[in-house]
Amino acid sequence: MRTDTPQTIYRKDYTAPSYLVDTVELGFDLDPARTVVANRMTVRRNPASAQREIELYGEDIELVSLRLNGRTLVEGDYVIEGTLLRIPNAPEEATLEIETICVPESNTTLSGLYTSNGSFYTQCEAEGFRRITYFPDRPDVMARYTVMLRADKDKYPVLLSNGNLIDEGILPDGRRYALWEDPFKKPSYLFALVAARLVCQEEDFELADGRTALLQVWVEEGNLDKTDYAMQSLKHSIRWDEERWDLELDLDRFMIVAVGDFNMGAMENKGLNIFNTKFVLANPRVATDVDFQGIEAVVGHEYFHNWTGNRVTCRDWFQLSLKEGLTVFRDQEFSADMIGTNTGRAVTRIDQVRTLRQAQFPEDAGPMAHPVRPDSFVEINNFYTVTVYEKGAEVVRMYQTLLGRDGFRKGMDLYFQRHDGQAVTCDDFRLAMADANGRDLAQFERWYSQAGTPVVQAETRWDEQAQTYTLRLIQSCPPTPGQPEKQPFHVPVAVGLLGRDGRDLPLTVDGKVVGTTAVLELTEADQTFTFTNVAEQPTPSILRDFSAPVILKYGYNDAELVHLFSHDSDPVNRWEAGQRLAMSRLLKLSGQVAAAGNADPKLDVDDVFIDAMRKILADDTLDPAFREQALLLPSETMIADQLDVVDPLAIHTARQFVRAAIGTRLRGELEAQYDANQTPGEYSPDAASIGKRALKNLALAYLCAAPDDASLDLARRQFDGATNMTDRASALSALVHARAPAAGDALQRFYDEFQGEPLVVDKWFAMQAAAPTTDVNRVRDLMTHKAFTLRNPNRARSLVSTFCAGNPVGFHAPDGSGYAFWAEQVIALDALNPQVASRLARAMDRWRRYTPDLQARMKRALQQVAGQAKLSNDVREVVGKALA
Ligand code: ARG
Ligand code: ZN
Repeated sequence: MRTDTPQTIYRKDYTAPSYLVDTVELGFDLDPARTVVANRMTVRRNPASAQREIELYGEDIELVSLRLNGRTLVEGDYVIEGTLLRIPNAPEEATLEIETICVPESNTTLSGLYTSNGSFYTQCEAEGFRRITYFPDRPDVMARYTVMLRADKDKYPVLLSNGNLIDEGILPDGRRYALWEDPFKKPSYLFALVAARLVCQEEDFELADGRTALLQVWVEEGNLDKTDYAMQSLKHSIRWDEERWDLELDLDRFMIVAVGDFNMGAMENKGLNIFNTKFVLANPRVATDVDFQGIEAVVGHEYFHNWTGNRVTCRDWFQLSLKEGLTVFRDQEFSADMIGTNTGRAVTRIDQVRTLRQAQFPEDAGPMAHPVRPDSFVEINNFYTVTVYEKGAEVVRMYQTLLGRDGFRKGMDLYFQRHDGQAVTCDDFRLAMADANGRDLAQFERWYSQAGTPVVQAETRWDEQAQTYTLRLIQSCPPTPGQPEKQPFHVPVAVGLLGRDGRDLPLTVDGKVVGTTAVLELTEADQTFTFTNVAEQPTPSILRDFSAPVILKYGYNDAELVHLFSHDSDPVNRWEAGQRLAMSRLLKLSGQVAAAGNADPKLDVDDVFIDAMRKILADDTLDPAFREQALLLPSETMIADQLDVVDPLAIHTARQFVRAAIGTRLRGELEAQYDANQTPGEYSPDAASIGKRALKNLALAYLCAAPDDASLDLARRQFDGATNMTDRASALSALVHARAPAAGDALQRFYDEFQGEPLVVDKWFAMQAAAPTTDVNRVRDLMTHKAFTLRNPNRARSLVSTFCAGNPVGFHAPDGSGYAFWAEQVIALDALNPQVASRLARAMDRWRRYTPDLQARMKRALQQVAGQAKLSNDVREVVGKALA
C-alpha cells in the first residue's frame, strides 16, 4: 500500500528502455514466510536510448545484495527512490546478480508471488514481476529465462515454470528441485511459476505439422472430475488457431493450472497459463451452461495470446488493447466458429452487443471513460476494462468488416511477418492492415484515440419518381474527460432494405449491385448515401450485425419495428428491433412510475408489444437460443443508461411489470415452450441444448414473475428433479426472485449439498445478493456466514460486488445504507487487495446520473473513501476521477 500521492503516467512520455536484458537466470528457494530469489541477468546498453543508467523496478521486496560484474554494489553505487532502483554510470554490458526476499504468505494482493491454499502461484501482469525481483519490468524488455525452483518435496511435489522442463530431482538437503527453460524471449509480465500439491489430466496432442505436444490441466486433488471440458476446449483452440490463421503451438508442452485465489479470469504466461478455477473446473453437476461457455472462451483466449500477446507483445501498457482487443476478437470468432450455424453465430454476436451496452457504453459515458488506447493512467490495473477489451475487440472486428475476411487475414499475416518477436504498438497493427490491403486507414486511428460512444443519427427518404432511397448519416460523439471535441470516425455501417413482404431488396449503390447488405463507409460528420432502383418504400435495417460500436438513432415507428422483428434476415437487427420495441415501453413505464410517486401509476403494456413477443416465442422455425435472446428484456442498467435522471426503483418496478405482463398474458405459450424445450438424457453443453435450456428457463422465470401456485410448483419440481446445475440454479433463482415460500428451504438444501464446491457456494451467495428482496442487512448477515471471506476474490465478488453492482434496488436504498456499506467494503478490501477493491469502487461510476437525493448520498460515500489517509493508487484513481 502506497501512501505517497499517485503519479499520472502519460503515453506521450514513452522512452525506450535504457538497457536491454538478454538472459535471466532465476533461482527460487520457496518458503511461504521467506522466499529467497536469486536473479542473475546479462544486460547491455540499448542503442536506441540516450540514457546511461540501468533502471530496475522493485516493490515490496527486501534487497539482500546487488552485484555488478562480480562487484558488490553499496548504497551510493545505486539509488532507490520508491519503486525505482537506478545504477548510474553503468558499463556497456554487465552481469547483474540480485538477491531479494519476499513473503508470499502475506501477499494478499495476489500480484507477484503469493500463496493460495498453502501453495505458490504467480501473477505478473501488469507489474507483478517487480514484486518478485528487481527488473526492468516493462513489456518492451524481452529476455530468455531459465528458472530453478527449490522447495519442500512433500508440500510442493509439483514445480512448474515457463517453457521446457530441463531437469528435476531431489537435492542433497532433501528438497525437490526443477529446472525450466523457456526458449522464447518474453517480457517479464509473462513469467510464471507454480509450486503446489496438484494433480493433472494430460494428453499427447498431434499438431498440424506432425509434432506432438504434451497438454496438461493441473488442479487440486479431488477436482480431476472437472477438467475434461477445459482440456477439450484447449484442443479445440489449438486446432482452430491452426485452421483459421495457420498459427501453431510453438512449445512441446502447454500447461493450464487452476487456482482458487485469482484476481482476474486467467493469465497467458508462456506455456504455463494460470487460471481462476472458475474458468477451468466444470461438470454438469456444478457448472452451468454459461460456465461451460466461459471456460471455452477463456481457455481459447489465453491460448490465442500465445501469438497475439506473447510472440508479438505490447511496447508499453498504453497499447494493452493491441493484445487484448485482438485476442478477445479471436476468442469471439472461436466461440462463433465452434457453434458453426448462422443463428448460432448471431446469438454469440447478440451476447457481445449486450455486454457492450451493459458495461462498455456506461463506462464510455462515465468518469473513467478512456480511449481504447489510453493517453494516461495512474494505475494500469485500472485499465483492464471493457473499453480496452470489448470495445477493442469491436475495433478489430471493424477492420474485418471493412477489409473482408480475406483482407483481414492478409493484414494478420503481414503483422506476424513484420513483428514476430517484437514489442509493438496499435499503430503497427493498423499499418499492417492498411499495407496488406493497399488502404489508407489514417482516419481509423481515431477509434484508438477518442473516447466516448459515437452517435449515428439516420434519416431516410424514398423518392418514388426517381426510384431512389437516400440514407443520410450524421455522426457525433459526446465529450469525455479531457476530450471536449471529437473528430468524425471511420464507421462501417452495414445496411439492408426490407420490402413490404419482409424480404431483402437487392441493393444498387453507385451503379453497382452489391447484394442485399451494403457496407457503407461513413467518414464525414454528415454524409448521404443513395440506393438506386428502389421500387417500393423499404424498411431500413441499419447497422446489421452491429457493424460498429455506436448508438444508432433512427425514428422507427412500431409498425416498422414489428416488421423488422418478424422478418429481418439479419438476426442481430431482428433482435435489435425487439429490443427497441421493449425499450420504448420500459422507458415510458419507468417515467410513469417515477411521476406517480406514491400514487398508483396505472401501468399497462400494449397488445402490439405482447403480440410481437408472442409471435417470436411460438415460432418453432426459430432457434430456441435466438428466441431466448429476443424475449429477454433490456437490463435495468441498460434502461438507466437511456435516462438523464435515474430512479432505480422506478426502473425496476417498470421492468418487473413488463415481465409479469409477459408471464400472465403469454402463460399458455410459455408453458408450451417450457414443455417443448426439455433436454432429457445425458447433459451436453452443445449450442442446441444450451439454447433449449435457456428458452425453457426464461419461460420459467417469466411464469414465476407473475407467480401463481402452478408456476411456483413447476419451479420447485424443477429444482428437486434437476440433473444439472443449469436447471437447478435457474429454478432456485426463480424461487428466490418470486419470494416463494419454498425458497428458504431450497436455498438451505442447495448449500448443504454443494458446500464442498467453492464455485457453487459463490453462486449461492451471488444469487441471494442479486435478489431484489435482498437489502443491505441481509448482505451483512450473509457476510457472517462461515463460508464468507473477503480474502478470496471470487467470494468477495459473489456477495459484495454482486450486491453493489447487480442489485440496483437493494444497493440504491433511499436511506443510503447501500452506499455506506460500499464505502466500508471498498476500504476493507483495499487493505487486502487493491485490484479487487478498485473494481468494486467502480460501482459508483455513474453517481451523477441519479436522482438528487441518491446523488447526494453517493457523493458522501465517495468522499468518505477519498478522504482515507491510506488508500491504494488503484482506488484513489477511481474515486478521484468519479469526484472530479
Ligand atoms: N492478460 C490477462 C487476460 O486478459 C489479464 C491479466 C490482467 N491482470 C491484472 N492483474 N491486471 O487474459
Ligand atoms: Zn487477454
